[in-house]
Amino acid sequence: MSRTTAAITAVNGYVPETVLSNQVLETLVETNDAWITERTGIKERRILKGKGLGTSDMAAEAVKGLLEKRGIAPEEIDLLICATVTPDHQFPATANIICDKVGAKNAWSFDLMAACSGFLYALVTGSRFIETGAHKKVVVVGADKMSSIIDYTDRTTCIIFGDGCGAVLLEPNEDGLGVMDSVLRSDGSGCQYLHQKAGGSVKPATVRTVEAREHFVYQEGKAVFKFAVTNMADVSAEIMERNKLAPEDVAWLVPHQANKRIIDATANRMGLDDSKVMVNIERYGNTTSGTIPLCLWEWEPRLKKGDNLVLSAFGGGFTWGAVYVKWAYGG
Ligand code: UT7
Repeated sequence: MSRTTAAITAVNGYVPETVLSNQVLETLVETNDAWITERTGIKERRILKGKGLGTSDMAAEAVKGLLEKRGIAPEEIDLLICATVTPDHQFPATANIICDKVGAKNAWSFDLMAACSGFLYALVTGSRFIETGAHKKVVVVGADKMSSIIDYTDRTTCIIFGDGCGAVLLEPNEDGLGVMDSVLRSDGSGCQYLHQKAGGSVKPATVRTVEAREHFVYQEGKAVFKFAVTNMADVSAEIMERNKLAPEDVAWLVPHQANKRIIDATANRMGLDDSKVMVNIERYGNTTSGTIPLCLWEWEPRLKKGDNLVLSAFGGGFTWGAVYVKWAYGG
């Protein structure tokens, strides 16, 4: 009997219209385009503007387009998982709100938090519900409105992050296509290097925490870079090895877009040249949970049935991982 796998059968993305360029950042903090470009590869990012708009608004746009592309009704969705670190509210789950906005009345839904690895964690989680036969249609969303937790007076973080969202549909496949294997890891001792100091149960919001700017992303960039560069490369090499994939077998590396230098180090370790690496960091920066599905969305027309993809990420937690996907349809 053939094994049922979870195939990605559609992908869609959404980025807000407003562009925040390096030139504009030069007017906000002590920085310059040359430094940002050389140290990160980023030229501009998108920012969600508009009163009352949150992560679920971007996600709802992405999911509506996803369903249209696949030609299915929202009522057919069994489960929707939203990976995010910028939920609309502390509770309820943003996934619940997305389902309401798109009319997914028969789905159950939940949020999953694994920072920049969130989409990979959610993809693997969603896949399990397909592989076991529990569900036929699972939507996995990676969405973040990072501008809601970024301090635009802190030059070490405000240059990196942007807003954006991507979504994929998972359906059963009997032909050996879809999510083939995954290596996922976490290490909570990394929390000290990348976190939000206040607003959680340890340090609830007070006037003082707001005054101290403790509701923004705190990152020790150098330390995070060191862990990211080795761990992301390690898991990417590991997933190739255990699936006996040589560099020529891999069609695409789909890396989290945090820093072009981290992406280059990962590709190098995998023995891949630039032509096989999806990079859109120059236009969107680091959209946290959004980076990987946004890449898939933009590269979709070039993907071929049977292409071997390695999706790879590292982020806050620390969390990191790699997922091996056999693409299930022609672009
Ligand atoms: O996605 C989640 C995981 N996050 C990541 O993977 C991010 C990992 N870290 C990074 O990408 C990088 O560490 C950064 C992009 C955040 C920083 O780049 P870096 O090359 O590690 O810079 P640095 O922190 O070592 O700073 C080098 C210099 C410092 O000046 P001095 O001490 O050498 O005089 C900084 O003060 O660059 C200075 N600097 C800046 N200069 C201009 C720091 N930020 C800026 C800036 N513009 N925005």
